[in-house]
Amino acid sequence: MLKSISPGGANSITSINFNPSAFVEEKVRQIREYVGGSKAAIATSGGVDSTTCAVLAHKALGGRLICFFMDTGFMREGEVEEVSEVLRSLGLPLRVLYVRDRFMEALRGKRDAEEKRITFRETFYRVLSEEAKREGCDVLIQGTIAPDWIETSGGIKTQHNVLEQLGLNTVERYGFRLLEPLLELYKDQVREVARYLGVRLEASERQPFPGPGLMVRCIGEVKEEKLKVLRAATSVVERALGGLRPPPNQYFAAVVEDERSDASQAVERAVWEALPGGKVQYFNCRATGVKGDNRAYGKIAVVSGGKADIEELFKIPERIIHEDGDVVRAVYELGGEGSGMGGGSVNRYAVLVRAVETRDFMTAKPYHVPMELLERLCRDLLEIKGVSSVCYDITSKPPATVEYE
Ligand code: XMP
Repeated sequence: MLKSISPGGANSITSINFNPSAFVEEKVRQIREYVGGSKAAIATSGGVDSTTCAVLAHKALGGRLICFFMDTGFMREGEVEEVSEVLRSLGLPLRVLYVRDRFMEALRGKRDAEEKRITFRETFYRVLSEEAKREGCDVLIQGTIAPDWIETSGGIKTQHNVLEQLGLNTVERYGFRLLEPLLELYKDQVREVARYLGVRLEASERQPFPGPGLMVRCIGEVKEEKLKVLRAATSVVERALGGLRPPPNQYFAAVVEDERSDASQAVERAVWEALPGGKVQYFNCRATGVKGDNRAYGKIAVVSGGKADIEELFKIPERIIHEDGDVVRAVYELGGEGSGMGGGSVNRYAVLVRAVETRDFMTAKPYHVPMELLERLCRDLLEIKGVSSVCYDITSKPPATVEYE
């Protein structure tokens, strides 16, 4: 059975002995056997995992596969058009579903990260279920990979594409049987399969982009104006950091209302010791992190002022968390209205820039971006209407996660 694979079990694969050709041959056979004479649907986002999975499924099923791509409203600038073009060029039978309003409506008033993720998942599969029924598909194939279900089952976060591992019966709930051919793979192995299948470089070498997209980077409640600021900031950050060599494994922007509270004296003292002249506050929101093997949902500290080497800044989150266990991450304020670099009083969003180095995304380190580049990036981000402050995330995973929600 494809679906009952445990980490380290008989089916686990290590990169050293991974053979993409044998993997593809075996999975094509299994997909044909599972789908039988039915039709199957696959939901693709244009990311490495789902695109690779779609090409694999298409190789197995040909005209009995239909590929859905959903415009959830959480894609980046121009992404819906770009992804559609890439998927079509791979010969995939594509249908684009324009369903932004359904997601906005479902998420209205929701601030909690897990509640947002569960709402996203439900909306996503309701839409898919309706469309799959319309097309006469009774199997859904999807590109879930090992870290997705390991972290979801471990309670770290509800990844939108993890269903059966949480005990959800997809036949009863959505009317389709589920097949997940990449379930035992890690990211670097998926890339090997992608290259073997000739998936265009835009997809196979692309930095990962989460299924719920910009929703998890719009910290707290999703609002049209906030999302617009985030989309603009994402373009600026991707352009500025995309040229770094070696490239960070992931780099992006997140956005949050720039509303803050004071930190305790103990935390202020800890920051002062590490960063003479430095200050610290908290944003009035929560973000995800990892504590031991569990998910944490805690405060974001904003450190500012002082003068220190960037490597020294990376040591500050640990000191803060030592004094306040409710903190999961810290960011360093590069500039903003307070520093005289920002615009007028209508600006009310803080942009948090995150860039990480990681091998498997289970752990990660903040990327050492040269300070001059960060300062230039800060000036560019402050040009965006609505931005009051720009910060660089200085936290490893753990204690933070890569994404904010
Ligand atoms: P975290 O935030 O858990 O991220 O440290 C680790 C990696 O997973 C990606 N990620 C997701 N990918 N659906 C996805 O397809 C999701 O819900 C999701 N959440 C996080 C994240 O971008 C990073 O590469």
